[in-house]
Amino acid sequence: MKTFNVFIILFFIHQFIILGQEPHSNDYAIILKTGENNVETQQQKYLYKDRNVPIEDRIDHLLGLMTLDEKIKQMNQWTYGKNANPNNIGDKMKEVSPLIGSLLYRSTHPEYRNQIQKKAMTESRLGIPIIFGFDAIHGYRTVFPIPLAQACSWNTDLVKESCKIAAKEGWLSGLDWTFSPMLDVARDARWGRVSEGYGEDVYANSQFAIAAVKGYQGEDLADKYTIAACLKHYVGYSLSEGGRDYRYSDVSMQTLWETFLPPFQAGIKAGAATVMSGFNDITGVPASANHYTLTEVLKDQWQHDGFVISDWGSIRNLVDQGVAKDRKEAGLKSFLAGIEMDMVDDVYIDHLPELVAEGKLSMSAIDDAVRRIIRVKMKLGLFENPYVDVVPEDKRYLLPEYLKVAEELASESMVLLKNDNKTLPITSKYKQLAIIGPMVKDSVHIMGFWEGMGRSQDVETIYEGLEKEFGNEVALNFAAGCDFEGEDRSGFKEALETAEKSDIVLIFLGEKRNWSGENGSRSSIALPKIQEDLVLELLKAKKPIVLILSSGRPLELIRLNRWADAIIEIWQPGTAAGSAVAGILSGRHNPSGKLSMTFPQTTGQIPMYYNMRKPARPNLGHYQDIPRDPLYWFGHGLSYSSFDYGPIKLSKSEISKTDTLIAEVEVTNAGTRDGKETVLWYIRDPIANISRPMKELQYFEKKYIRAGETIKYSFEIDPLRDLSYLDSRGNVHLESGDFYILVNDQKVKFEIINR
Ligand code: BGC
Repeated sequence: MKTFNVFIILFFIHQFIILGQEPHSNDYAIILKTGENNVETQQQKYLYKDRNVPIEDRIDHLLGLMTLDEKIKQMNQWTYGKNANPNNIGDKMKEVSPLIGSLLYRSTHPEYRNQIQKKAMTESRLGIPIIFGFDAIHGYRTVFPIPLAQACSWNTDLVKESCKIAAKEGWLSGLDWTFSPMLDVARDARWGRVSEGYGEDVYANSQFAIAAVKGYQGEDLADKYTIAACLKHYVGYSLSEGGRDYRYSDVSMQTLWETFLPPFQAGIKAGAATVMSGFNDITGVPASANHYTLTEVLKDQWQHDGFVISDWGSIRNLVDQGVAKDRKEAGLKSFLAGIEMDMVDDVYIDHLPELVAEGKLSMSAIDDAVRRIIRVKMKLGLFENPYVDVVPEDKRYLLPEYLKVAEELASESMVLLKNDNKTLPITSKYKQLAIIGPMVKDSVHIMGFWEGMGRSQDVETIYEGLEKEFGNEVALNFAAGCDFEGEDRSGFKEALETAEKSDIVLIFLGEKRNWSGENGSRSSIALPKIQEDLVLELLKAKKPIVLILSSGRPLELIRLNRWADAIIEIWQPGTAAGSAVAGILSGRHNPSGKLSMTFPQTTGQIPMYYNMRKPARPNLGHYQDIPRDPLYWFGHGLSYSSFDYGPIKLSKSEISKTDTLIAEVEVTNAGTRDGKETVLWYIRDPIANISRPMKELQYFEKKYIRAGETIKYSFEIDPLRDLSYLDSRGNVHLESGDFYILVNDQKVKFEIINR
C-alpha cells in the first residue's frame, strides 16, 4: 500500500514537472489521505491555493509554510498618502512590500491595484494576496446620503442597494473591503460622528447593519463586485464624553449590552467578515485593549470567525490613554485582547517578533490571528482571483441606474419637519422663487464627510436641480446672502431685495462637511449666528419662509422653527442632491423620511432621545427655561399626504411566552397624492425587574399607499425576540405581566401569562 502511495506522489510530481502546471485538486486530496506529509512535494506547496480543498485545511497548510516574519506582515495594514479623513496624516508613499497583509488603498485605479497585487502574488515566496481596504462609507464615486440620513428613509432595501453599488464601484476600482457600516448608536448630536451611523435607536441600527452587510457582501464574498464589510467602531465610541471625539466613554455593562452590542451582533449574524475596534475607553479598559468585548463576546460567544482591525493608530493610542508604557506594550495588550490587524501603525511589525521571542506571545496565538485574516482572504476568493476587472470609468461610475438609487434614497431620507398652512409643495401659484443661502450652489459640503471618491464636479447642485425641475415656468431669483460662518452681512441687502420681489422665500442653510464626521465635534448644534440672522432679515419681506437645512447632525432649531413656515431637513444628500431636493420642493417626491435621531430644543437639552428611562418624579426636574419635550422627536416626519391610522388590533390579549401575537393596523392615505408611510412599532414593558425604557422600537415597515387607499401593516411578535431584555451580562430575560404595543399616539395592552 505504502509503495502505491509513493508511486502516486511520484506520478504527480512527474505530471507537475512535465506539464508545468498545478495538479488538479483531487490530487491533493489523495496526498492528504496518504498521510505522507513529511514528503515536501511541489503539490503540497500549492494545496492552500486550491479552492476545492476545505478552507481550514488550506489555512493549516499555508500556516505550516509561513515564517514568523511572513505571519506578522499579514497582520499589518499599510497605507500611502492620506485616507479620506484629513485628520489622518498618512505615511508618505512607501515601498509597498509584497508581503503586507493589507493596503489602505487611496487610488481609484484598478490597474495600479492589480500591479501591486501582482507583486504580492509573484514576488513573495508564498504568493499571499493583499486585501485592499478603504472607507466607502456612503458610496464610493456615486455619493449617497450620509448614513444618519439613510436611516431616516426607513428603507432597508434602498440602503442595501446603495451599499451594493458602492461595492461594485469600489471593487472595479481595486477594493476588497470597506470600513463600513458604522454601528455606534448615537445620542449626543455634539459628536460629529453621528452623521456616520444610523441614529439613536438600537433596533434601527441593527436592521441597517444587516442591510449594509448584505449589500456589500452579497450572496457570496467570492463573487465579483462584492467586498467585505467592517462593523465599527467596536464598541461604545459614541459615548465619548460631552460629544468630544476620542474621549473617555463611561459605558456601563447594562448600556453595553442593551444599547451598543446588539447592532454589532446583528451585523455579525448577517455575516460581516470583519470588525474595527474603537478609539474609546470602555470604562477603564480601552476598546482596542478590551479582551471582554473583543474576545469573550465577539469570538467566544458570537463565534465570529473573521478578524478585527484596530482603528487608525488606536493601538499606539493606548500609550496616550495611559494603559501602556510604550508601543511595544500597547501591541502586546491589543494583540492579547483580540486585535488581529494593526491599521497603519506598524506596532505589530515592529514589536510582535520580539514579543514572541521573549515568550510573551505564543506561536499558536499568532497562528490563530493569521488564520482569521487568511480565512477572510480565502472567502473573498483572493487566492484564486487576486485581480479585479479593468473597465473604463464611464462603465464603472455614476451609471444612470446608480444615480436613480442615489436620488431615491436621498429624497426618502429628507424629513419634512414642519409645513404650516401647506406652504409646500411649491404650486403653480408661485411664479417668483427666492433661492437664498450658502447651500444653494454648493457642491462640496452637500456630499458630507467621508465622501469616498466622490467629486464635487459630479454633484448636481440644488440650483441646477431647481433649474431642471422648474424650467422656464418660474423665475429663480438667487442671492447667496451670507457664507456658512463669519460676520459678513454685506449680502443681506441683496438677499432681502430678492425676497421682496419673490412670492416665496426658500432659504438653504447648513453645515460644512467637516463640521460633522470624525473630529467634527461642536459645542453647539445651532447653525452659526450669521445664518440665523439672514433668516431674521428675510422675515422683513413678509413672504412665506421655507428653510431647507443640510447638516450632518440634528440641529438646534428653537429660533429658526418659530420663524419658518416650513422646514425640510435634507441632511447631506450626496451626488443627486439637486434632483432630490428639487423633487421634494416641487412635490414630484412626496416626503416620507422620519427622524432617526431626536432634535432637541437646545444643545443643553442633550442627551434627549426617545427611549429614555422613566424618571423618579415624572413631572419635575425638567429644564426650567425650555419646553420639556424636544423640538422634534425621533420618528417625526410629515408628508404632503395625510395618513390616518385605524385602531391597533391584536390577535390575542393574553399570550404565553412561547406564543406568537399578531398586531395589525390599517393606514389610509387620506391625501390627494400617493405616498409612502413607515409604521414604527414600539413596545413598552411598564414593570420589570430592572428599569426599562419608556418604549422601544421593535419593528418598522415602509409601504407605498396610493391616494385614497387603505393598507394593512402587521407585526408578528415573538415574545423572546421582541419582549425580552438583556441584563448587564447579556443574559436574556422574559418576564410575564403587562406589556403595551404603541403606534403613533395609540397604545394597546396585552399580557404575558405563565402557563
Ligand atoms: C476612523 C475610521 C476609519 C479609519 C480609516 C479612522 O480615523 O476612525 O472610522 O475607518 O480612520 O480611514
